[in-house]
Amino acid sequence: MDGTVKRVRVKTSGGSYDVVVGPGALRHAPEMRDLLGRDVCAMIVNETVQGLHGAYIRSCFEGLGEFRTHIMPDGEEYKSFPQAERAFDWMLASGISRRSTVVGIGGGVTGDFSGFLAALFMRGIPIIHVPTTLLAMVDSSVGGKVAVNISAGKNIIGAFHQPALVVADIDFLGTLPDNELRNGLAEALKHAFIGENALFELFEKGDFDSIRKAESLMEIVYRSALFKSSVVERDEREGGLRAILNFGHTVGHAVESLLEYRGISHGQAVALGMAAELEISVRAGLLDRAHARRCTELLERYGLRIRRAGLDVDGLMAHMKYDKKTSLGRARFALLSGPGKPVYDREVLDDVVRAVLADTIVTGG
Ligand code: NAD
Ligand code: GLY
Repeated sequence: MDGTVKRVRVKTSGGSYDVVVGPGALRHAPEMRDLLGRDVCAMIVNETVQGLHGAYIRSCFEGLGEFRTHIMPDGEEYKSFPQAERAFDWMLASGISRRSTVVGIGGGVTGDFSGFLAALFMRGIPIIHVPTTLLAMVDSSVGGKVAVNISAGKNIIGAFHQPALVVADIDFLGTLPDNELRNGLAEALKHAFIGENALFELFEKGDFDSIRKAESLMEIVYRSALFKSSVVERDEREGGLRAILNFGHTVGHAVESLLEYRGISHGQAVALGMAAELEISVRAGLLDRAHARRCTELLERYGLRIRRAGLDVDGLMAHMKYDKKTSLGRARFALLSGPGKPVYDREVLDDVVRAVLADTIVTGG
């Protein structure tokens, strides 16, 4: 489907780039030609996306340059340091040079991995992100955080490497399974909770069936890109304000690492984290309980669970101490001080966090 394509201009310290959003956007990004025509390009494509959309991708890139393609298997475990080392060898052997561009086509795993390759290869070459999951469109492709995992933890080795271009082609979402759509909705709901008021209204008016239509997905991706880029422009390297984007993530990351990243998506973990951090905001006297309830009702309306059986509170507390957001052994939280009013870098007493976890997201058995 071809249709209206919108653009969000993101200004960063190293220059500006566009996020092109819309159905058929991959055919409507003429600046790709300049970026791709300079030397052989490294195209990193997720294997599922290649299977479902290989012919479409080929047709969109036809005549734009010369490509070497690396198919990346499905799974967070492939976003690893050893896999990156292998990929660097492959890039060299494939003739990728300092004038080359990397194109990452897939979800957040492929985007983080290919961005990491681009950030480090020959001290940095351009990356074009082509996100194909809702999560990657609303969050991971915008803002320049790239990383791989090591055995000690997720996203521990990484860089800030802003893309040269992001092309969010809504047509890819037509094949995305419902659970992956929900995964991305969690991050879009986060934007709605921390200040994207038009998105909040859209979510309040809609339901899962209405928002999965292409026009609504377009609006969700466009508004998220606008919102996230406005935060990143003010604080590119997370010296302060950008930490509001971590709302739900202090607890969410602890849930993911406690479960060893198996059987739970990033978005579902963030939804649990938001449920807990809304309650922390209420108990800290920052947020009205009625508004917290409005938010948790939205999480449930969009199929995100706000409780999970069998999570171990002590385990969650221990994992929070290892988080990147922790300093001096104390977890830091982004919280809400009112509807759409985030605050960041808040320390919360362990006893309060422990009680909230036990009372809210953790259910017995
Ligand atoms: P993912 O990349 O694993 O994709 C999820 C699944 O969707 C995969 O199985 C994939 O094969 C499939 N898929 C992708 N596109 C598809 C399509 N169009 N149709 C059908 N299936 C499709 O996961 P994700 O949720 O997109 O990303 C999660 C990753 O993003 C995590 O590693 C997380 O750390 C990272 N992340 C990074 C940032 C950042 O700022 N850099 C922000 C949030 C999350
Ligand atoms: N996903 C949070 C950030 O990009 O800062």
